[in-house]
Order: sequence, then structure tokens, then C-alpha cells
Amino acid sequence: MKILVVGGGGREHAIVWKLAQSPKADKIYCAPGNAGIEQIAECVPIKATDIEALADFAEKEKFDLTVIGMDDPLMLGIVDEFQKRNLRVFGPEQKAALIEGSKVFSKNLMKKYGIPTAAYEEFTDPDEAKNYLRKNGKYPIVLKADGLALGKGVLICESEEDALSGVDEIMVDQKFGAAGNKMVVEEFLTGQEVSVLSFCDGKCVKPMVSAQDHKRAFDHDQGLNTGGMGTFSPSQYYTKEYEKQAEEQIFQKTVDAMNAEGRTFKGILYFGLMLTKDGPKVLEYNARFGDPETQVVLPRLKTDLVDVFEACIDGTLEELPIEWDDGAAVCVVLASGGYPVSYKKGYPIEGLDKLEGKEDMMVFHAGTKKEPDGTIVTNGGRVLGVVAKAKTLDAAIEKAYDHIDDITFTDVFYRHDIGRK
Ligand code: AMP
Ligand code: GLY
Repeated sequence: MKILVVGGGGREHAIVWKLAQSPKADKIYCAPGNAGIEQIAECVPIKATDIEALADFAEKEKFDLTVIGMDDPLMLGIVDEFQKRNLRVFGPEQKAALIEGSKVFSKNLMKKYGIPTAAYEEFTDPDEAKNYLRKNGKYPIVLKADGLALGKGVLICESEEDALSGVDEIMVDQKFGAAGNKMVVEEFLTGQEVSVLSFCDGKCVKPMVSAQDHKRAFDHDQGLNTGGMGTFSPSQYYTKEYEKQAEEQIFQKTVDAMNAEGRTFKGILYFGLMLTKDGPKVLEYNARFGDPETQVVLPRLKTDLVDVFEACIDGTLEELPIEWDDGAAVCVVLASGGYPVSYKKGYPIEGLDKLEGKEDMMVFHAGTKKEPDGTIVTNGGRVLGVVAKAKTLDAAIEKAYDHIDDITFTDVFYRHDIGRK
């Protein structure tokens, strides 16, 4: 098979890496890819959001399968465009991707179908939102811009004053652009946050092993929120009891709800769960693999990923057994100094060769680029994910940190407590 993967971060590196293990994959392409992906696939310089150019390329190259890694092209309708041209593609259609693209849509869906989530109100008018906060606000409280905002459209407000200025930021100043045309105000939940990604063929849903993300920039959850400074899998907090509740009240119910709404979901459905004392509640849905969750989940997958994607497209997931490694995996992100605010790019990365061929260790590239002279340089805030797999979480943590300083670049930083929630 000739396969195209769309995206160019650590998540896509992990997807390409896993697909490349399939005996069915003859040749893999990635658009736009990065310097790590380039070592195992052919990268083509087409932007992930240039849907027309990607579909033209897929038609010309006659790909047997295209896998969409990123959220933006899904929201723009890349799957619909490929289907229109009879190209085989893995991912949800635009109308189904709305489960991630609109907080108002996903909250209303959960309310209508009785799926546990934080209590909320939706607003299209900033003054109404402010009146509501003055009358009914209980603090802390959570404000969410309706649309996609690069994961930044969520404000946790400690006081009424904070919340009122938050409404201005989202709806009046439109700090997150059109994403702030509507807004959700919701109850603040407490507990451990767990990511459960799942494969979905439109009818059947098969959850993957659980993972947890460390979002703050520095050790002990200090500093600003980031795209994720590291992950581990499984989460020890996601007990059999929570799993059973999520299976009964959340996973299948969501897939059935999407069907009932005429928005059949095929692809990766990501459940961001808060494990509260009243059971698991949905914080958010994503219509794609998580980043950097994928980097610890896919290394634990034993089943051929090509088979899983094909079963999702064909609606035969029920019959395909999916097997997972019993052990654990940890991903520590190496970031550029100054991330997530401002940072320099273009520093040469040294020591990548030291981890090559090490058993159960992977280096997934996120923001890297190959210079014309062959040097691999930093090209983003999150640069690399160093992943270690072992029988236990402790052993995986130890292994990742034993080797992390083998790789270095100017102003590099990473967290020292990944896996220790
Ligand atoms: P979201 O984009 O909806 O996942 O929100 C981003 C982050 O904000 C989540 O990962 C949580 O850490 C936090 N968050 C979102 N909603 C809530 C909530 N209702 N209560 C507490 N924290 C929340
Ligand atoms: N790690 C969070 C996300 O991918 O949305």
C-alpha cells in the first residue's frame, strides 16, 4: 500500500512510525512532515490545511490510504473533499469533527443524551454572560471560547473580576478570533485528568489504553499551560471502576448520539475525562489523536495499525481484536527555552544518533527541520519527545531520564517529573 499521513508534529511521527511497521505499508509519504519523519517516510512540502493541493496530490500519486493527523484540516472538511473524489481516507467528516470544533455543540450533545459533563450555560451576548456571572458565578469558574483556539480558548477564573474581564477577552476583544463568537461558562471540576483515545468505525468504539498529559511548563505544575510537556500511559488513576463507568455512560453513548444527530463519527475520538468523586465526566472531545498522548499510546499497540484504520473505514472494527502491551510508556518533551511564550529556532540538535537503535526507546520529532547541509535544527517550541517503554511505569521513567541528556541543543529545557502525578 501507498499511504499518505497529513501533519508534521510528534503525533504524526508516531503514526508514521507505527504504520511503517506494517507489512502492508510499502511506501509512506507525509505532508508536510519534519526532520524525524523524513528518516522513515517521504516528506512533501504541502501544508496540512491546503486541502485542494493534498487531494490533487493523492489523486496523482494514487494513494491507497490517507490518514489525517491534525485537527485543522478535519474542521476544514478534508475528509469530505477526499470522499468526493473517491479517495480512501481515515478521519471524521466535517460535520462529525464539529464535536471538537464547537464547544457549544459538544456541550449540547452531552446534555441532550445524558452524557456526564460539567454543568454549563452558553452565551452569544457578552452582557448576558456578565449578568449571569454576577448573579450565579461560583468561583473558580471556567470560560470557553466556542471554536478552535489552538488549545488556548479556555480560561479558569478565580474571581468575578477575572471572569468579567475573561468575557471581554473572548467575546469583545476576540482574542481567539471568531472562536469567541459564542462562549460556554461552566462549572469547575476537580480530580485527575485522563485522556482516553478510541478507534471508531461509526458504530463500534474501541478505547485505547489510557494516558495522562503534563500541561504546565515547569516541574510541580508550575508555569504556563503548554501543548503538553510529557505524557505517560497507563494512568494509575483510571481504575477498573472508572473504566466501567466510562464504558457505560460515555464512550458508546457518544458514538450513538452522533449517529442519532446524523453526524456518524469515523476516526479517532478522544475523550478528555475528569475523574471526579461522582465518576468520570467529559471535559472535552477531540476528533483526532492527542499530542503528545499518541507518542506513549501507539508504542503500546500490538495490532497492525493499517488493519485498524481499514476496519474503521469499512465499519468492521467489531470483528478486529486489538491488542496492547501490558507495560508502560513515558514521553518527555524537550522544548526550546522561552516556550510557550517566545523562543528562538534554528539551533543545531546534538546527540540524536546516541539513542538510535536503543531497545524500547524512540525519539519522536515535533519541531525540527533539516538544513541543506544535513544538520537537524530546532524549528518549534516543542522540539522532540523522548519515549521509553518498559514493564512498569517506574522503569519507563528511569529509562527515559537516563538517556534524556544524550540529546542537547542551546537553551533546551524539559520537566523532571513526567510520570510522577
Ligand atoms: P479543554 O480544551 O476543554 O480540554 O480545556 C483545557 C484544559 O482546561 C483542560 O485540559 C483542563 O485542564 C481545564 N478545564 C477545562 N474544563 C474544565 C472544568 N470544567 N473544570 C476544571 N478544569 C477544566
Ligand atoms: N494533549 C492534548 C491534545 O492533544 O489536545
